[in-house]
Amino acid sequence: MAKGKVDALLGIVFGDEGKGKVVDVFTPKYDIVARFAGGPNAGHTIIFEGKKFVLRSIPSGIFDEGKLNIIGNGCVIAPDLFMAEAQELETAGYNLKERLHISKRAHLILPTHRVLDRAYEAAKGKNKVGTTGKGIGPTYSEKASRTGLRVGDILENFQQKYQMLKARHEQILSDLHYTDYDIAEEEQKWMEGVEYMRQFPLTDTETEINQALRQGKNVLAEGAQGTMLDIDHGTYPFVSSSSTTCGGVCTGLGVAPNTIGEVFGIFKAYSTRVGSGPFPVELFDETGDKIREIGHEYGAVTGRNRRCGWLDLVALKYAIMVNGVSQLIMMKSDVLDGFDTIRACIAYEKDGVQTTDMPYDTEGWTPVYRDFPGWEQNLTSLTSADQFPQELKDYIRFIEEETETPVTIVSVGPDREQTISR
Ligand code: IMP
Repeated sequence: MAKGKVDALLGIVFGDEGKGKVVDVFTPKYDIVARFAGGPNAGHTIIFEGKKFVLRSIPSGIFDEGKLNIIGNGCVIAPDLFMAEAQELETAGYNLKERLHISKRAHLILPTHRVLDRAYEAAKGKNKVGTTGKGIGPTYSEKASRTGLRVGDILENFQQKYQMLKARHEQILSDLHYTDYDIAEEEQKWMEGVEYMRQFPLTDTETEINQALRQGKNVLAEGAQGTMLDIDHGTYPFVSSSSTTCGGVCTGLGVAPNTIGEVFGIFKAYSTRVGSGPFPVELFDETGDKIREIGHEYGAVTGRNRRCGWLDLVALKYAIMVNGVSQLIMMKSDVLDGFDTIRACIAYEKDGVQTTDMPYDTEGWTPVYRDFPGWEQNLTSLTSADQFPQELKDYIRFIEEETETPVTIVSVGPDREQTISR
């Protein structure tokens, strides 16, 4: 962590790597914590002073007095959901309005964007993406097609701009024959949310961040989702709609590439995915069920079962490459306690051809595994890396050799103390 730099903390597979806990451990070291992509499709579970919070749009540095939190221009924000999330924190005693700045350039998710999300998914039938239904895709689409509304729009002539965009959405929905919706109640909350947002500093956050960097302050860019859900580098079209990778830190916060310091890549000791799309390591047997059960692998936003499988080194190496990951953080190692054999996918195979590079189309590939003996020990009570069982040490060393990247932190349980540096 260097002064005047932006360190990135990124989920590097399909999201849900447990960033919340690591951010919690990391944030005390930073002056600013900033979200650069995504919106309320994220769900970062944080346990602070014994109380559990699920953060969706608000950065995880919010619990620390004196720290600036930023929702950057690369994010999308739903005023009603933001208000609910923020008020819960205010009720718990955190004074948000002094600690949270929102970029005027972040885009607004309208209630009709959420209806459009549902309508597009319904139209796709069995090819649906399995989105979180939060209106992410339609909002980013409109950002790209230059018809969206930004946070800064609420400062002037807002009703008129809102009604125009809503009418446009209603027209699209009518063309799609998708008329079974009623947003009246939701819209009222949404407008309340807009009023509530006005109480926050709505600023040019890119200028603020760059000024802070020039003063030698350091910034933690908090990722959302994961690399394999990135709009460019993920398993398109089964992806989210933002740039979840390190490149997204630059565009989503307005910082130059040469300000990026460390890139921390978070992954789990095994793999999970929510929603549809290719997932070569998916297990359909009782081992998959066992991982889900022990790892509590159910979606934080939607409550859906997460699909589970062994660690995928093809995906991991690809993510390390596109993000320039400098340090790896392995989460939930304790979930693998008591498995006789642990597997890692080292290549994909299709029609007798093997590849260790991420293919353009990940559909139809089967995993090639390497097996490792499991460990008998319960990892959750360990406090230092030299106490690790030899089998875990070997598994980690293999990951480091394959990825040519050090694993500097290993998590062995949900608590802050169960985070071991190597
Ligand atoms: P969307 O971001 O709601 O458009 O959903 C697109 C895909 O990304 C779906 O497969 C979602 O399940 C997945 N997704 C979105 N946000 C998250 C997340 O925070 N964790 C894991 N998967 C996510």
